[in-house]
Amino acid sequence: MPDLSQNISVRILKAAEAGGYGLPGVVCYNLEAIIACRKAAEAKNSPCQILLFPWAQDYGYDNLVNLAADVCRSAKVPMSLHLDHAQSEEAIKRAAQTGKFDSIMVDMSHYEKAENLSRTTELVRYCHDLGIATEAEPGRINGGEAGVQDTGDLEGILTTPEEALQFIDTGIDFLAPAIGNVHGPYHGVENIKLDFERLKGIREAAKGKVTLVMHGTNEFTADIFRQCVQAGMTRLNVNQVVLWKYEQYAAQKAGRTPLTEYMEEGTRLIQERIEWMMDAVGSTGKAGDVKLDR
Ligand code: 13P
Repeated sequence: MPDLSQNISVRILKAAEAGGYGLPGVVCYNLEAIIACRKAAEAKNSPCQILLFPWAQDYGYDNLVNLAADVCRSAKVPMSLHLDHAQSEEAIKRAAQTGKFDSIMVDMSHYEKAENLSRTTELVRYCHDLGIATEAEPGRINGGEAGVQDTGDLEGILTTPEEALQFIDTGIDFLAPAIGNVHGPYHGVENIKLDFERLKGIREAAKGKVTLVMHGTNEFTADIFRQCVQAGMTRLNVNQVVLWKYEQYAAQKAGRTPLTEYMEEGTRLIQERIEWMMDAVGSTGKAGDVKLDR
């Protein structure tokens, strides 16, 4: 097994696990969100991960990837670039070959389990050989969001501790359990039903082997974020929960405001939400936990 202990995604998540806090993994679609991550991380002295979907390369060649990687490498605080929900071998290899991603989610959850496991094993090895850390999703988190193939027509499958161990055997570094979380809207906070008992068993199985990451945080309150961190989640993926203010602003101001002002205010609104989240998950002030050699 290649030694990934110096991989920046691994270092950030391990430090969070050791320190008992979480940090944001922000799904970014555009310049405003990418810049907002850096501004929030530096303002809060917090680690942060930028998450891109394979869509980013379909849309913007390698240019958006290069921009996000440059932000991570030049920030004054620990930041890393993660490819989220890479659902095909082609997308994983294309991204890995850029040399810009620190970690990749090998998401084969749309396949049946045996095929999921064998594909994951093979692709984890491929990424590790290039020094890239990996993540997988045992079970199946249902739902969809912009840029991810919707698994809504497939059955959502909650993760068991046994399954977690099977996926850990593939060599992954981060594990995204399905504990009742869904991608996309919950349609009300009252519909967010997370199985923390199940997570406890998974955490015990995963202890010392992989770090746990949380998907599907739309509509989460600060309190729900805190509960997830207490239950062992390290990186918490966010999309709509940090974008809604920006989207409301965009709905009112697009075409009616000079673009410079529109972009700056849009960035500020995303930054505000990321900072809110950093306070909620406890990463504020934790940048020093990962030493940077720059
Ligand atoms: P949602 O909370 O919108 O589903 O997105 C966050 C996520 O889990 C991305 O992987």
